[in-house]
Amino acid sequence: MKIGIDKIGFYAPHLYLDMNELAKERGVEPEKFTIGIGQEKMAVPPITQDTVTLAANAAAQILDEADKQDIDMVIFGTESGIDHSKSAAVNVHQLLGLQPHARAVELKQACYGATAGIQMARGHIALNPNRKVLVLGSDIARYGLKTPGESTQGAGAVALLISAEPSIMEIEEESTYYTDDIMDFWRPVYSDIAFVDGKYSNEQYIAFFQKVWGAYKEQTERSLDDFAAICFHLPYTKMGLKALRTVLDEVGEEAQTRLKEQYQLSTQYNRNIGNIYTGSLYLSLLSLLENSEQLTAGDKIGMYSYGSGAVGEFFSGILQEGFEKQLHRTEHNAMFEKRQKISVSEYEKIFEQQIPTDGSVIEWSAKEDPAEICLTGIQNHQRIYHVK
Ligand code: CAA
Repeated sequence: MKIGIDKIGFYAPHLYLDMNELAKERGVEPEKFTIGIGQEKMAVPPITQDTVTLAANAAAQILDEADKQDIDMVIFGTESGIDHSKSAAVNVHQLLGLQPHARAVELKQACYGATAGIQMARGHIALNPNRKVLVLGSDIARYGLKTPGESTQGAGAVALLISAEPSIMEIEEESTYYTDDIMDFWRPVYSDIAFVDGKYSNEQYIAFFQKVWGAYKEQTERSLDDFAAICFHLPYTKMGLKALRTVLDEVGEEAQTRLKEQYQLSTQYNRNIGNIYTGSLYLSLLSLLENSEQLTAGDKIGMYSYGSGAVGEFFSGILQEGFEKQLHRTEHNAMFEKRQKISVSEYEKIFEQQIPTDGSVIEWSAKEDPAEICLTGIQNHQRIYHVK
């Protein structure tokens, strides 16, 4: 039985910051951000979007009534959740109107959460082939104003429907993973911004890639030649390229050119959104599938997942017959086009807006936020959500 990705949904907030303008304000050359880091635009979440609404908006686009009845597990991968106790999967389960006989749970391991969710979903479907699992990867990446990490922030969510006989990509059984206790990036529970050892995190991202790719080659006897493309976790789009370059000389020129060209296509969406932490790898997959004209059914796609702290995994998928009919390129292009540019000072104001922590009541209007699902207030330390 094939198990894999049946549908992919994606949502990003309607506001963005131009990286050229941020560079100017921060006194650095724009090329540092657009070439050195590889980011053009950064999605900025208004106060009316949190990780719950981002994920719910991503999933609402892809689920039909039959899916809502068939889903019996919701796995929410995030490292910027809204509650230390209750899982955001429960909130999304309610907002989407899924049938109640379902499991709902949140998973955390930095940017690796959604990958762990997909692998667990595979196990669930193997035991329950008639059911479906909704895996969500939703995050708001925050390092702080005027920090080195600022240019690698972002916000957004990806929703993946995992099922038997999937329409988009079968996930293959072969997979290699690696864990080591390192402090390259972390966020203590008392902090709403991440702490990071930037250079060390770059090094570890590459070191983990080499470990899992090396183990994958040994386990499968495959080589880079077997892949039509490789997607990477993208904290910023230059990062995956740095890792890819370390192994390119394992193949001839033709394969190198193919992998580099497909890599560029796999970074197009991320370049305009920024880091969405655990959803980033799957946003990259979506970018590849919706922008590449070279891919055909049967092609093998490599996937490198990295979650600081750290866990890395390399796995692969096979594109299914008719996969292109399950994509929403036009709608996603429209979403990018409709976004509203904000100035650096507007971004800074939004960044500093805080949700009250003293129990006071606050309300926000959903009118200015075009999203279908918004956060409209706080009452008794509870978030109030609104579905339009
Ligand atoms: N034109 C072109 N390129 C330029 C340039 C110019 N005018 N000026 C600088 N550059 C280049 C630099 O040469 C450098 O390129 P290389 O890395 O290829 O050498 C690049 O721009 C960045 O410059 P710096 O290294 O000087 O940048 P920095 O020190 O200010 O910060 C960073 C870079 C460390 C990535 C920082 O943004 C950061 O800490 N980000 C958060 C951490 C992160 O994303 N880590 C990635 C791995 S961890 C992970 O993947 C998990 C996760 O999601 C967080």
